[in-house]
Parts: sequence; structure tokens; C-alpha cells
Amino acid sequence: MSTRKPAPSANDESSQPKAAAKATPHIDSDQHPERLDDCRRCALWAHATQAVGGVGPKRAPIMMVGEQPGDKEDQQGKPFVGPAGQLLDDALKEAGVARHDVYVTNAVKHFKWEPRGKRRMHKTPAQREIDACHYWLERELASVGPRVIVALGATALKALLEDRDARLQAVVGKVLEHGGRHVVPTYHPSFALRAPDEPTRERAYAAIVTALREAGKLARREAARESDG
Ligand code: URA
Repeated sequence: MSTRKPAPSANDESSQPKAAAKATPHIDSDQHPERLDDCRRCALWAHATQAVGGVGPKRAPIMMVGEQPGDKEDQQGKPFVGPAGQLLDDALKEAGVARHDVYVTNAVKHFKWEPRGKRRMHKTPAQREIDACHYWLERELASVGPRVIVALGATALKALLEDRDARLQAVVGKVLEHGGRHVVPTYHPSFALRAPDEPTRERAYAAIVTALREAGKLARREAARESDG
């Protein structure tokens, strides 16, 4: 077990202005920051605008976990506010699940990207980055206490199951039990937006709606079980 680091002093780089700190990042995957903005558990913070934490009710029956913030999320500081979020809103509506019943977050809290011309192109997070960020996901799971989790895509599935070998294709459409919770794996909304052909995009969207409907059903069943005592 690692020990908690002392609070930063005025001489620590983490208490210096961001520009100075960016020049000398101190990455330590074993640190235990209290605030997401102070996180230096991996190097992704240095090229992101800000960390993007989850949003939603303090206690939500359902948690949806994506991969990492995209370009828009990085700028606005909220998860799923870009095109993937719009698709998710449509799917939630179609599945009869209210977004305000759902806590939405990501496996990785900083935007990982590479430049292509003037654009910042999404880059899939490495396993070490998923592992480093699990610290925050665990905290969210403990405080929100969802009964049902929807894993949106392979990165979320790996993070939630803590299994680097988890394969989305092997479990999509099933309900898994993990850590006393139902985990519903489905496609990432970006796949439903960007798959090369229309039939694949349509199938992926339909699978997301089905997964969300299932999550709603499981959440209602859990709520009924709890109220029955
Ligand atoms: N994709 C994600 O996985 N998460 C977001 O917040 C936005 C896009």
C-alpha cells in the first residue's frame, strides 16, 4: 500500500502558476491528490485545457462511463457536451431514461490528442493512463453508488472491470456483474457516429439504445428491491 503524500508546500511545482508547472511536470502514478485539477498521476494533464470530472446527481442509479473528454469537453470542462453527447442524449430519450437520473463520466479525465494541421485529433489512452485515472473512477463509484453502470466502449469496459484484456465484442449485449453492480457494455457513441458505413452506424446506435433501456430496467428493479426492504 502506498502512503499519502504530504500537502504541497509553497515551493512545490503543483502550487506554482500553471505555465511554470507545465515546464517541469512531476508525474507520479502513486500520488493521492484531493482535487482533480491537481492530478499529476499521468502526463496527460500537461496538454489538456483542464481536467473533466463527472456530472450528475450526487447519488444516481445509473452511471455512464465513456473513454475520455473530446475536444469540446476539454474546452467546456464537462463530459459529453460535443457530438457524442448529442447522440447519447438522443439514445437516452429513445430508451426512456432521463439524463438527470444518470451520472456521466469518463475512464480518463484529460483529453489525449495529437495535432493534425490545426486540429486536435483524439488519441486512445494507454493502459497506464487508464490505470492512473482509475483512482478518480473509484472515487466516483464510491460516492455516487450507482447500481447500474453503462460501459461506453472498450476503454470504459477495461477500466470498470480492471481488466486490460477485456474485449467489448465478447460481451456487448450482455449484462455483467462486477463489484456488486450490474455492468452493461455497449458501443461508444463515437463509433455510432464514425463507423465507415451507414448500416454499422445504425446497428451501433440501436445497440446503445438497447443497452440504455436495459440499464433503466435494471435500475428500476434495484430501486423496487430496495424499497421492498
Ligand atoms: N467521448 C467520450 O468518451 N467522452 C466524452 O466526454 C466525450 C466524447
